[in-house]
Amino acid sequence: MAKVKTTFYCQNCGAQHARWQGQCTTCKEWNTLVEEVVEKKTVPSWEQTGDGESSLSRKRTQKPQQISQIDATESPRMDTTNAEFNRVLGGGLVPGSVTLLGGEPGIGKSTLLLQLCLNLPFKTLYVSGEESAQQIKMRAERIKKEAENCYILTETKTQNIFRQITENQPQALIIDSIQTLQTDHIESTAGSVSQIRECTSELIKFAKETNTPVILIGHITKDGNIAGPKVLEHMVDTVLQFEGERNHTYRILRALKNRFGSTHEIGIYEMLGHGLREVTNPSELLISQRGTTLSGTAIAATMEGMRPLIIEVQALVSTAVYGTPQRSATGYNLKRLNMILAVLEKRAGFKLGQKDVFLNITGGINVDDPAIDLAVVVAVLSSNFDIEISSQHCFSAEVGLGGEIRPVSRMEQRVNEAEKLGFEKVFIAPSKSAPKNKGIHVHTVSKIEELVKYLF
Ligand code: TYD
Ligand code: MG
Repeated sequence: MAKVKTTFYCQNCGAQHARWQGQCTTCKEWNTLVEEVVEKKTVPSWEQTGDGESSLSRKRTQKPQQISQIDATESPRMDTTNAEFNRVLGGGLVPGSVTLLGGEPGIGKSTLLLQLCLNLPFKTLYVSGEESAQQIKMRAERIKKEAENCYILTETKTQNIFRQITENQPQALIIDSIQTLQTDHIESTAGSVSQIRECTSELIKFAKETNTPVILIGHITKDGNIAGPKVLEHMVDTVLQFEGERNHTYRILRALKNRFGSTHEIGIYEMLGHGLREVTNPSELLISQRGTTLSGTAIAATMEGMRPLIIEVQALVSTAVYGTPQRSATGYNLKRLNMILAVLEKRAGFKLGQKDVFLNITGGINVDDPAIDLAVVVAVLSSNFDIEISSQHCFSAEVGLGGEIRPVSRMEQRVNEAEKLGFEKVFIAPSKSAPKNKGIHVHTVSKIEELVKYLF
């Protein structure tokens, strides 16, 4: 028997090494090398000619072109009929693009893409290496009764998949998941670094040469990275992440990388018994109990991408039972919470040092927008003093280390959203471009002390 050739791959950067070593010499990461069996590959393609070269790739041999001669009219995007998905992609699927969708197990990746596939107005092939055709059918029954354009294939060998594609000619391809695929040209097991890399590059080549959009599902590891080499994310055009808390019904679709659009947009879905529902007006849903006032609750006007989002911040401040007070934050950066508590202690004289502080953003979403700071301050103080804040008040400003209240971007849009949802008063930082009173009373505050005097 011929000697099996093995090589070592770095799981972080995908670099290849002849022997094992503790550190990858390419990306300098420690302990990332894994041994894999390799076989010399022939040309991996779905249409091979006698000399081992793809007929498509030979046809497409490129010549240098003068940049002014290149036709720059963008090919039209393919409408997925799913408004949230379209928005995150930057206006629809780009023909020939490869998109990677990552997310924790059970979050709803297969559901999202199957639902997309059932509704696409063009012929789509959904390839699953994880579930049987019956299982997929059962899932599809829950989501939608009839779908003419959706074809299911349960297969893991890329060569077989390409053979079916040549026969069936779908206009879009969905792969669930990239970790289950296997190519004949490499001997290592499915899910190994070299298999993932090779299968992805075959799919990318297929997408570019046939102008077919491909969407891949990718598993993520415990630390939240897409399993497989980091290079996978560099190879594809768009990386999407589907996230949310299992116990909440909301799911957020985010673009981490997008060669064809912005990465600021998010799509919000609600997981129901019959599939995912697009949430077109998220603000109304994220405010839990409008009308009833509770201490420790404040409402913030934030932005997620280009969309204003009104969310509720809840805080619980209580006397620490143990020596070291506990601080915990869900949906908000813990370091930032500690900073805000320090600012309150130093600048406004609140003795929070001996208190446990818990903070929660309702709806299970993660907020990075600094405009939420002011609502965090108000929620913490409200819980501390046990004084309710009117449910008609809304807050939108950043808090600085000096206790100063600072303006944030897109004030006009935030105030409009608050007005649309029927708030009576919005608290913002003073600035030249601060919006004026309209249907909503705009109250400017420049220091935390000022706000405290007003509210408590
Ligand atoms: P799934 O798409 O299988 O997750 P992933 O592919 O990311 O691993 O999601 C499965 C979960 O979604 C499962 O807990 C059941 C739930 N679900 C619903 O709540 N409603 C539905 O209509 C469907 C199809 C699934
Ligand atoms: Mg799945």
